[in-house]
Amino acid sequence: MSNPLLERLQPYPFERLRALFAGITPNAALPNVNLSIGEPKHPTPAVLTDALKAAMGGLAVYPATLGIPELRLAIAGWMHRRYGVTVNPETQVLPALGSREALFSFAQVVLNPADASALVLSPNPFYQIYEGAALLGGAQPHYLPLEADGQCDYAKVPDNIWQRTRLAYVCSPGNPTGAVLSQQQWQILFDASDRYGFAIASDECYSEIYLDEASPPLGALSAAVAAGRTDFRNIVVFSSLSKRSNAPGLRSGFVAGDAALLKQFLKYRTYHGSAMSTAVQMASIAAWNDDAHVIENRKQYANKFNEVTPILQKRFEVGRPQAGFYLWMKTPVCDQVFCRQALQQLNVTLLPGSFLARDVDGFNPGAGHVRIALVAPLDECVTAAERLIEINL
Ligand SMILES: Cc1ncc(COP(=O)(O)O)c(C=O)c1O
Repeated sequence: MSNPLLERLQPYPFERLRALFAGITPNAALPNVNLSIGEPKHPTPAVLTDALKAAMGGLAVYPATLGIPELRLAIAGWMHRRYGVTVNPETQVLPALGSREALFSFAQVVLNPADASALVLSPNPFYQIYEGAALLGGAQPHYLPLEADGQCDYAKVPDNIWQRTRLAYVCSPGNPTGAVLSQQQWQILFDASDRYGFAIASDECYSEIYLDEASPPLGALSAAVAAGRTDFRNIVVFSSLSKRSNAPGLRSGFVAGDAALLKQFLKYRTYHGSAMSTAVQMASIAAWNDDAHVIENRKQYANKFNEVTPILQKRFEVGRPQAGFYLWMKTPVCDQVFCRQALQQLNVTLLPGSFLARDVDGFNPGAGHVRIALVAPLDECVTAAERLIEINL
């Protein structure tokens, strides 16, 4: 007998992709370009790998879940440089093994499994971990469709939904649209959280991949400060080195914000066993303390968007995102048909937008779009775009 809540988990988008492509023979005359998975592919910077190699002695000790003070200081320093926000490294920062596990486990801290009417707000389309976290916490996900600007409109949430909300996941910059939540929208969320007492989990793992060097995306804690909040009550941000420093295999990120929530989270994490290896902590310190490699990384993505977007715009409706490494492109036919044809005719692998969203009242807000991850080298991304505009539909 296993936990019955496990039955409520949905197949992951990539499982559905395999099923969608079953029986398709990709065009063997062309090498495959895979733009379906959001896995960074630029090289991991030496500043990180050198620090990791130098710290191998650290493997001989059990690390503490709280991490070493130097890591929390480096993270607090980065938060200050990047956001102008002051967080207390003793009480308002915790290391995480990437943002994914923390986004998941945080729900288990704030949800009361006995409260069957609890709702967890999630954007739709969304990163599937939010849904799994809600379901395994015994709550019900409540999906908010992305609007034309690529973000949720929290002004549309009715009071009867707010009343039942225990946790709201925000994804900003968003996956898949790259849109950044505005101060005005944050204000609506903060006001609702004050009124109804729910926690806000702000997934900011794409915060460092932005296209206009002069305007880094707004983060939840800066929005809180701008809203005149002296503490970060009920707000926790989730950040990561995976995208910022091209290190998805390092499994390093952090959470920051409300000290009371993080105290509970630390307790949970101690039992859960999510302490970060000391070697990984040392590599993470080096990475958070260095911004040069991040600027270089952004340049590479900006080049790809500059080259690829105008090619695709010759035929399709697609705009440059504010941030992230995805193009969210409208498809002239059903997105699943488009992806099958792209593979069969052009040997280009894409992800249908409908796989990233749930149907609500018969409407899937991801349908009619494909997500194109510009993670492959520039020349491969350009080749894929040139092939795509020749697709026969
Ligand atoms: C929106 C979003 N959040 C979180 C993650 C998790 O990233 P990591 O656990 O590597 O920090 C991803 C990974 O693709 C993502 O797309």
